[in-house]
Amino acid sequence: MTDSVKLQELAKKYGTPLFVYDGALMLERYYDLFRFISTDALRVHYALKANYNPALLALLRDAGAGIDAVSPGEVELALALGFDKDRIIYTANNMTDAEFDRVMRTGVTVNIGSLSRLKKCAVSHPGSRICLRFNPDVCDGDNAMTMTGGDLTKFGILLDDADEAKRIADSGDLHIIGLHEHTGSGLQHVESVLKSMDNLMAIATPERFGELEFLDFGGGFKVPYRDDEARVDYVEMGRQITDKFNAFCETYGKKLLMRFEPGKYLSAECGTLIVEVNTIKHNRSRVIAGCNSGFPQLIRPVLYGAYHKITNLSNPDGVPGVYDICGNICETGDRFAEQREIPEIREYDLLAIGNAGAYCYSMGSVYNLRPMPAEAVLKDDEVISFTPAETDAELVKRVLRK
Ligand SMILES: Cc1ncc(COP(=O)(O)O)c(C=O)c1O
Repeated sequence: MTDSVKLQELAKKYGTPLFVYDGALMLERYYDLFRFISTDALRVHYALKANYNPALLALLRDAGAGIDAVSPGEVELALALGFDKDRIIYTANNMTDAEFDRVMRTGVTVNIGSLSRLKKCAVSHPGSRICLRFNPDVCDGDNAMTMTGGDLTKFGILLDDADEAKRIADSGDLHIIGLHEHTGSGLQHVESVLKSMDNLMAIATPERFGELEFLDFGGGFKVPYRDDEARVDYVEMGRQITDKFNAFCETYGKKLLMRFEPGKYLSAECGTLIVEVNTIKHNRSRVIAGCNSGFPQLIRPVLYGAYHKITNLSNPDGVPGVYDICGNICETGDRFAEQREIPEIREYDLLAIGNAGAYCYSMGSVYNLRPMPAEAVLKDDEVISFTPAETDAELVKRVLRK
């Protein structure tokens, strides 16, 4: 997280609520992966859905990253920012015919995750080069809603249907240049990553899929959200991944590219949401610290029960108390933290909500007609981009256009 003095300085300059992103930290996380997985076969495609701030994306583009896009809008944004079409993969699920056609026309590789879409592609775009997404049949993730493997999820083609997928692809002379799987977000067990790789590699035989150029093992690299949560031993995990992949390429008879699509790993830790407390309320058994943001601006605690570390920037040495840290939205569940021990919170204190760089702003909304906060992107402690919040008047004008 950006240091406390800097965060307070930025809050004073720009006001709150304010998202602050440390671009240098994001780049450090990007380069980490190349240290852990030491092969020139590695390609990292950032999962743009985690955070679509253009200044952050530009840093990743310049560092050589690719993009994992999940909607035509994300593809369009990546292209507009100058990401080469060959460095973008489109992994939408339940896409419409129009969306599919539109993205196919851009030349971006489309990752097909159902036999139904594959059949339609064989008819409408014979001869094209595509990727197939398989369900790795491994369940893992930081909660049930972010697990994407196994029978209960809507994602990917079943491994059992690999031969059927091959038959359909052949019927349209489709070239299967990549196979893909994504097990889930916030993977808790290294074994899950390795098992999913094994399961995908088991169907990736030269007899079945002889034209492969890459295998894509999705995202899911976890970062600690709690102080007492250990960091994964990515050096060891990277070594196992590299060995496994090299052995696969030997058997396959060709050096393929190995892709990963991290979102959280690159951007979660680089982000902070600064909010200001405006109301302290003593409700018999609970003390409520009410602040000037709310769950539409950082929904993970309400949506997933996710834990985000909260720091009292203004009173770090205060006597600890236990608080419900609530927002300004008309919903009882509008809490960033429940019964959280934190140094005494006073009215007008600034709080910093950590790990707010992934799936926070990008999942945001203007529910209750409160504009999303401003965003400041830092690199080496300098602000390289500032996006002001929409004003109430601009938001209302936008609503009235309907
Ligand atoms: C297909 C795909 N790839 C990559 C990701 C990124 O996941 P994470 O942010 O956990 O790395 C996701 C997110 O769920 C995804 O659905």
